[in-house]
Amino acid sequence: MNNIKDFKNLNQKKILLRLDLNVPLKQGLIADETRIDKIIPTIKFLLKENSKILIISHVGRPKGKVNKDLSLNPICKNLEKKINKKIKLIYEDIFKLKKEDLFKDPKDQIIFLENIRFYKEEEENDLSFSKHLAGLADLFVNDAFSCSHRAHASVSKITEFIPSYAGLQLETEVNALKKVTTEIKKPITCIIGGSKISTKIGIIKNLIPKFDNIIIVGGMANNILYFNGINIGKSVKEERCEKIVKDIFDTSKKHSCIITYPEDVMVGKSFDDKSKIKDLNQIASDDFILDIGPKTINKIKDIIENSKTVLWNGPAGYFENPNFANGSYEIAKKIIKKNKFKSIYSVIGGGDTIAAINQINAIKDFNFVSTAGGAFLEYLEGKELPGIKALK
Ligand code: 3PG
Repeated sequence: MNNIKDFKNLNQKKILLRLDLNVPLKQGLIADETRIDKIIPTIKFLLKENSKILIISHVGRPKGKVNKDLSLNPICKNLEKKINKKIKLIYEDIFKLKKEDLFKDPKDQIIFLENIRFYKEEEENDLSFSKHLAGLADLFVNDAFSCSHRAHASVSKITEFIPSYAGLQLETEVNALKKVTTEIKKPITCIIGGSKISTKIGIIKNLIPKFDNIIIVGGMANNILYFNGINIGKSVKEERCEKIVKDIFDTSKKHSCIITYPEDVMVGKSFDDKSKIKDLNQIASDDFILDIGPKTINKIKDIIENSKTVLWNGPAGYFENPNFANGSYEIAKKIIKKNKFKSIYSVIGGGDTIAAINQINAIKDFNFVSTAGGAFLEYLEGKELPGIKALK
């Protein structure tokens, strides 16, 4: 994998820079800026080299349709402030853009294209879309480790049509995860939560042979509870997951990996509600499970106490409402306490996990923080990520 920082002369080169600026947005406000902060060194490096930067990113899952709530505009403005430089956001149809029209004004040094997932061709890894994107620049740089598990046009296919390089942040993340996975100390515990159930549930089975404990929390745990015949009320769950959950339990027995999931929960009648502790047999049909309960927290703390390595991806609850953030905070506090005595190695990953940890200002208290969620788990699984493979 060649890194752009080793390229000889970047002066005036047009760089198509794929970033993952998929930050949590609420009515146009950025709830957590970590992913933006992390790519500043790459931008500054390219500016210092006097290159022209054409940024591509997605935010959210607009499914191939223009959605004003998922515009990159607030992210573009935020980056502008951070680097103190004007950035032009192009709303025009990408298919109509030509290389010679970009950077016509010599003052333009950074241009943003609007959310790449407004185009259905992106997720289809479409050949002509990729070719067209490649035609807009001289070099391609992937600095989006956190979406390198997606075989999408601006991550994967594009590399077939343009000289392609890894970015500074991508290399940092890959090297750190490589080190973690080769120097890992047992017992190892992996905590998996969050709401992207469809992305992660299939991965758990493959992670089982590598870990001593897998703790399933967040939206993901609802599928396990449902499988066990628990009434989960109106809580989020993935359809037709019974076979996957059965496989998780069968595989865990074979590999003596202990699967832990909620024994009690915090529920609300809506996402804005106050929280109420409930045992699993007390959940009502109009309840949403939105966090783990105190018994579960204690059980998780015991497991962390006896672990040497903890990898954590995905919050334990709907942390956006402080009434349901306690599970994530308590897990974080326990890991941090162990870290202080250097008796655990801790890695956290994923946009939402980072956002939850930032709420208690604790991001510096972990050994490594990866911006990646799904990509982090697939990397741990031992899979070659399409975006990384494409750079080789
Ligand atoms: C992420 O947040 O993990 C990446 O941006 C990928 O997003 P996705 O799960 O919507 O593909």
